[in-house]
Amino acid sequence: MDAPRKREWLSTLDVWRPEMLEPGDQELLREAHEAASKAYAPYSNFRVGGAVRLEDGTVVRGSNQENMAYPSGMCGERVAVFAAGAQHPGKRMMAVAIVSPSENAIAEAFMPCGGCRQALLEAERRQGEPIRVLLQVRGEDVSISPSVSNLMPFAFDAEGLGGQSD
Ligand code: THU
Repeated sequence: MDAPRKREWLSTLDVWRPEMLEPGDQELLREAHEAASKAYAPYSNFRVGGAVRLEDGTVVRGSNQENMAYPSGMCGERVAVFAAGAQHPGKRMMAVAIVSPSENAIAEAFMPCGGCRQALLEAERRQGEPIRVLLQVRGEDVSISPSVSNLMPFAFDAEGLGGQSD
């Protein structure tokens, strides 16, 4: 029997002690923690904050906003990225910090959900330049991805659906 052809995806993250990061990254993480303090998460008790740094240095924050009708809630990083797109259209996103101060957050498992990766990926593709992703739980080590696509193996894409006209 023939062996199948393999399609592989390599994804690597750098893990840093927070104090080793450059001041700009430390500041973005602080902004994300500040955002997380404004989460509305009475149903999950899981707070998430996001902070997007734009090319001109502006930082746009977001936090998860839940709803009694559960699926109507929204993740923190998606609130931040959509707010950045809505308030600063066309400005490049350099980096997004995503954090959780919650006790039950697990550092190695704290990752943007699939829907957020899809949304972040589209922002990255639209601008044609990578968006760095910084992930931190409480004050623990920070995982850094050089791009969103590095977090999104075998991502969906389709000719003609790429939103090229916008
Ligand atoms: N949450 C986020 O804000 N970002 C993620 O990537 C994962 C999950 C939120 C959604 C919900 O309010 C709570 O965390 C528990 O799932």
